[in-house]
Amino acid sequence: MDEPMTAADTGLDAPVPLLAPADSLTDATATSLTVAAAPLANAGGPEPQRQESPAPTAAAFTEQRMLRPAVPAPAGGWRRALHRLTAGTVNLGPSPAEAAAARLVERIRRPIEGSRRIAVVSRKGGVGKTSVTLLLGHALAAHRGDRVVALDGNPDAGSLGHRVVRENAATVTDLLAATDRLAGYSEVRRFTSQAPSRLEVVASDDDPAVTRALDDGDYAAAIAALDRHYNLLLCDTGTGILDAATQGILAEADQLVVVLSPSLDGARVAAATLDWLDAHGYAALVAGAVAALNSVRAGRSDVDLDQVAGHFAARCRAVVAVPFDAQLAAGGNTDLARLRPATRDAYLRLAAAVADGFAQPPQRRSTASSHPRVVPARERTFA
Ligand SMILES: Nc1ncnc2c1ncn2[C@@H]1O[C@H](COP(=O)(O)OP(=O)(O)OP(=O)(O)O)[C@@H](O)[C@H]1O
Ligand SMILES: [Mg+2]
Repeated sequence: MDEPMTAADTGLDAPVPLLAPADSLTDATATSLTVAAAPLANAGGPEPQRQESPAPTAAAFTEQRMLRPAVPAPAGGWRRALHRLTAGTVNLGPSPAEAAAARLVERIRRPIEGSRRIAVVSRKGGVGKTSVTLLLGHALAAHRGDRVVALDGNPDAGSLGHRVVRENAATVTDLLAATDRLAGYSEVRRFTSQAPSRLEVVASDDDPAVTRALDDGDYAAAIAALDRHYNLLLCDTGTGILDAATQGILAEADQLVVVLSPSLDGARVAAATLDWLDAHGYAALVAGAVAALNSVRAGRSDVDLDQVAGHFAARCRAVVAVPFDAQLAAGGNTDLARLRPATRDAYLRLAAAVADGFAQPPQRRSTASSHPRVVPARERTFA
């Protein structure tokens, strides 16, 4: 753990961490205009040696040196009204909340070397794995320039595909049947549905008999096929950590998001999941994991959520609380724009915490995917 956890990290009972007031931006601009005073004539001392500096050339005219840093216009609120009213002459810059959101977006945009696979796991059903996969995917895809895809890896006919507007009826089984024919991105795109955020989703089959027939190798093959065209792969999973599907995904994962409900049994199951992962060769994934404390209701709870968050903060890299949101409770096709601002902000913080992990090298355990550009050619047909 690089830094100790604070309430601001989880968002529990804490507003978005604020930056310095916008007014300080104008102070900074003023400071940057101050030219350092030349030293006074040397009173009686030895003649100072003249420093020979290289003759000035046109190379001095760089943007960094010659242009004043631009203060972005405020995006909303009274600051924006004032900016408009004065035709831009009075620019107080972004509000502290806007500046904080901009900092989160900057973290979300952290470049990726190669690709990263993020498995969203929890051994308890209905705690929000699919919702977290979807909204985290929206937050990453909406703010990054690279390609982001979410794969439904729930072996019990997962619901991820039902949470976006489907552009086709293709599923992961169709993708697997075509892995040896996926020459370019346009080929693989036929198996995904793209949301307005740019997130693409590979749905699972609605028949659990079909999804249960897929094994760990199938999911590894699906991930390898997607890895050739997407930088960022999110994998939704089912509740059984020993399921072949989850085992296949865990072996391919570089990062984990562990989802837990804000209840004693929810936290206990999530902690036991981390115990299992620690004991079975995934300690590095646990240490780099982000815990999502999902569906936190406002007001006092019998469960001491700070204690719960503290437990996961001591074991994982970050903990982020996502509030209960009526839009998410409806369980449909939800995008970030429809969420309450506090939920949207929580997803930005979750995406930023995940993206901080891109600084680390890939953690995947599978040796096959150390050479991820090789897609196994499979001749499969699915009934
Ligand atoms: N932050 C939230 N606020 C309110 N409702 C939520 C929130 N997150 C998820 N939900 C709702 O809780 C229900 C279960 O969520 P979801 O399907 O994401 O869980 P899951 O862990 O994927 O379930 P399963 O184990 O069945 O796959 C859904 O109706 C979902 O919309
Ligand atoms: Mg699910």
